[in-house]
Amino acid sequence: MAVDLLLGLQWGDEGKGKIVDVFTEKYDIIARFQGGPNAGHTLEFDGQKHVLHTIPSGIFHKNTINLVGNGVVIDPVIFKKELENLDAYITHYRSNLLISRKAHLILPTHRLLDAASEASKGKAKIGSTLKGIGPTYMDKTGRNGIRVGDLELDGWKDKYRALADKHEAMIKFYNVDVQYNLAELEEEFFAAIEVLKTLKFIDSEHYLQVAQKEGKTVLAEGAQGSMLDIDFGTYPFVTSSTTTAAGACTGLGVSPNKIGDAFGIFKAYTTRVGSGPFPTELFDEDGKTISRVGNEVGATTGRPRRCGWLDLIALKYAIEINGITHLIMTKGDVLSGFKTIKVCTAYNYKGKEIHHLPFNIEPENVTPVFTEFKGWKEDLTKMKDASQFPKELNEYIEFLEKELETPISVVSVGPDRNQTINR
Ligand code: GDP
Ligand code: IMO
Ligand code: MG
Repeated sequence: MAVDLLLGLQWGDEGKGKIVDVFTEKYDIIARFQGGPNAGHTLEFDGQKHVLHTIPSGIFHKNTINLVGNGVVIDPVIFKKELENLDAYITHYRSNLLISRKAHLILPTHRLLDAASEASKGKAKIGSTLKGIGPTYMDKTGRNGIRVGDLELDGWKDKYRALADKHEAMIKFYNVDVQYNLAELEEEFFAAIEVLKTLKFIDSEHYLQVAQKEGKTVLAEGAQGSMLDIDFGTYPFVTSSTTTAAGACTGLGVSPNKIGDAFGIFKAYTTRVGSGPFPTELFDEDGKTISRVGNEVGATTGRPRRCGWLDLIALKYAIEINGITHLIMTKGDVLSGFKTIKVCTAYNYKGKEIHHLPFNIEPENVTPVFTEFKGWKEDLTKMKDASQFPKELNEYIEFLEKELETPISVVSVGPDRNQTINR
C-alpha cells in the first residue's frame, strides 16, 4: 500500500489537525514526519476543543496507530503535558502511540539557545515559537543530538551533560539576557523522560515497511506549511525542517515511489505567525475582519496571526513542490459577508508582472496583483452538502481549481469534525 500525505501549503495553521482527524477513519496508521511542539493542531468534536503539538491527530480514534516519526523532534516536558491533557478524555490510547527510536530530543538548553539566538537578532528575529526547534535540528545535522533510542542505552546522561554544558557556553557567547535555573529545568526534564519511557519505542521505518506489506493504510501528517520549509520557504524566516512532501520520505523512511495521494490543505485566505515577507498581507479593516471572524490566534503561542488574501502564486509553487493530487480548502465560512473577495493572481516584480515565486518576495520587490470576486452572504457553517453552496462560492472554488490545475475535493466550513464537505 502507498503512503498518503496531508500537509499545509501556506505558512502553517491551515487546519491540518482537523482534517487529519476527519480522514483518520480511512487509515490504520497516522504518522507525524517532522517538526515538533512548534506545531499546534486543533481538533474539535462533541463541543470540545483539543490542541495537539507532537502527538498525531489520529489519537482520538480507538483503532488507529499513531506514530511519532524519526523526523520529529520531541520535547519530553511538552509531551508529558500532552499525555496528561489526553488522559482527561480518552483511555487506552497509550498502547496505540508509538515513537521512533530515531526521533531527536529537545533539551531544556535547546529552548534557552532558541531564546538567546532570537534575542541576539533584535528586529531581525525569526519570530520562532521558542520551543528549541532550530537548535535541536542544528544538533541533529551537526551530529551531536540525543535520540529517543539513546534513552534505552547506558551512558546517555553523560552525553546529555556534555551537550548541556556546551549549550551553556554557547548561551554565554550570545551575550544577551536569558534568565534561567538549569537545575529546575533539568528536574522537570528528567521526570518527563521517565514518562516518555513508559511508551513504546520502535524502529519505525521497519514497522512502516511491514505495515505497508500487510496492506495497512498510512497517512503521513505534516506540521507547519510549505512556505516555512527550510529549503523552499521564505528563508531565513522558516522553520528548521523539511515541511514539504520530501520530508515524509526522510521523516518516516518511506521511499518516494511509495507515496500515493498528496493532500494539500489551504485556507480560503492566508495567515502567517512570526516574521518574514507576506505579499498579500492586509493592514486594513478587511484584515481585521478576517482575524476576528477567523479567530486567528496561534494555537501554540497565542500570538495574533497576520492575515491577508489568498496568494495563488505561492499556492501554485507549493502544489508543484509537493506534487499535490487533491486540495482541501478550509475557513471559507470566515469570508461570508465580504462584498468583494480578492485573490492574488500575479506579482508585480520590480516593475514587471510575473506568475512564479521569485527568490526574494520582500515588499520592496513584490506587490500583489489581485483578481476580484463577488462575495457571498450566506452562513456556510450549517451546510451539509456542496449542493447548498452559494453561487459565488462555487465560482470562487471553480476559479481556484482552474488556476491551480488541481481538484478541491474537501471544503471545511467550520472547526468541528462534522463541518466538512466532500465535493
Ligand atoms: P493546523 O496547525 O494546520 O492544525 O491548524 P490550527 O489548529 O493551528 O489552526 C486552524 C484553526 O482553524 C483552528 O482553531 C481550527 O479549529 C480552525 N478551523 C479549521 N477548519 C476551519 C474551518 O473550516 N472554519 C473555521 N471557522 N475554523 C476552522
Ligand atoms: P502548525 O503545524 C504556524 C513559525 C513560527 C516562526 C517560524 C520558525 O501548527 O501549522 P520555529 O519555532 O519553528 O523555529 O519558528 O515558523 N511556525 C509556525 N507557524 N504554524 C506552525 O505549525 C508553526 N511552526 C512554526 O511562528 O515564524
Ligand atoms: Mg497550528
